[in-house]
Amino acid sequence: MVYLDNSATTLKKPIDVYKAVNDCMLNFGANPGRASHKMARLLQEKVYEVREEISSFFNISDPGRLIFTFNATDAISTAILGYLSEGDHVVTTPMEHNSVYRPLNYMKDKGIDYTVCNADVYGRVRWEDIEKCIRPDTSLCIVIHASNVCGTINDIREIGKNLKKRNITFMVDASQSAGVIPIDVEKDFVDILAFSGHKALMGPQGTGGLYVKEGIDIRPLRLGGTGSYSLDMFQPEEYPDRLESGTLNGWGILGLGEGVRFIKKRGIHSILSYEKELCAKLLSNLSVIKNVNIAGYMSTTCRLGVISFTSPKMLPEEIASVLDNEYYVAVRAGYHCAPLSHRILGTYDTGTVRISLGCFNTVSEIDYVSKALSDILA
Ligand code: ALA
Repeated sequence: MVYLDNSATTLKKPIDVYKAVNDCMLNFGANPGRASHKMARLLQEKVYEVREEISSFFNISDPGRLIFTFNATDAISTAILGYLSEGDHVVTTPMEHNSVYRPLNYMKDKGIDYTVCNADVYGRVRWEDIEKCIRPDTSLCIVIHASNVCGTINDIREIGKNLKKRNITFMVDASQSAGVIPIDVEKDFVDILAFSGHKALMGPQGTGGLYVKEGIDIRPLRLGGTGSYSLDMFQPEEYPDRLESGTLNGWGILGLGEGVRFIKKRGIHSILSYEKELCAKLLSNLSVIKNVNIAGYMSTTCRLGVISFTSPKMLPEEIASVLDNEYYVAVRAGYHCAPLSHRILGTYDTGTVRISLGCFNTVSEIDYVSKALSDILA
């Protein structure tokens, strides 16, 4: 199997991820923070170490402001539903995932309004696009760091710097970028960061995270037991407990910790340049195949290894199905839960075939899928 659906989830993980999950499940998978026996304490300590590990990865000064969630959607819903109040206005981009639009539309009934700014034909959003949509009541701006449809990267530092001057809270969806593009919440002026744990951060499914800058409060989406203040029948004010009710995905979090350690060891810059190398090779191979129309940039300067294309010869689902059944290649076809992106990219009628690369893919896999597509579409 050639796995090229890393934007949905990474399939192959570093060996230490499997070992950590296995070790925890077999030997000390008690409920972290819920008892004082040895196993519960050990897992609680190890979960805290991962909180520190991820905080240092994103330059978050207080690990208590890093919330473990079950995926990026969970993080984004928590932030949107818990931050906004009646009368607030939000600016967002046409490249977002439904994990942003759906909670925003849900909040419309609660007196929240939002505006979708413009993007260029490659899906890139600039500060000027956002600026045009800002109103006196704008309290939040939500920007995807890298598109899950075409890989286009937005300059979050530039956008964040300008939002800070306007005193508007900046939320970044780093689902595709966390683990591939360096993110520094201080230097990038990020107030709220949502990320997946199971994609480029290499953790197991059921992991993700939400950073909430000190001074910002988010009302909890889930309320209940936190293992702390058990006699208090009201939700704690302290972070992370305020947003972490219920048993955590303890063994998943330990796996995620090993994923992040792997990235630190290999070096995020080296992972990024390797993925760009594979991406450049794939773009170059695809560009000479007849009947392939690539969405987004042809250069890798502003893009990750998420490559979408269409063909006048076959529908995306048909291409993906032939790749799967005849060539044993896994890709994703369709709209990728990002409806407005397709208006920008001109692919609204059919969606796209999406090939998404990861750091364990190889040049020979790129050549293999390129040859397969050449045979299918020639
Ligand atoms: N949001 C993930 C994707 O783009 C699941 O495929």
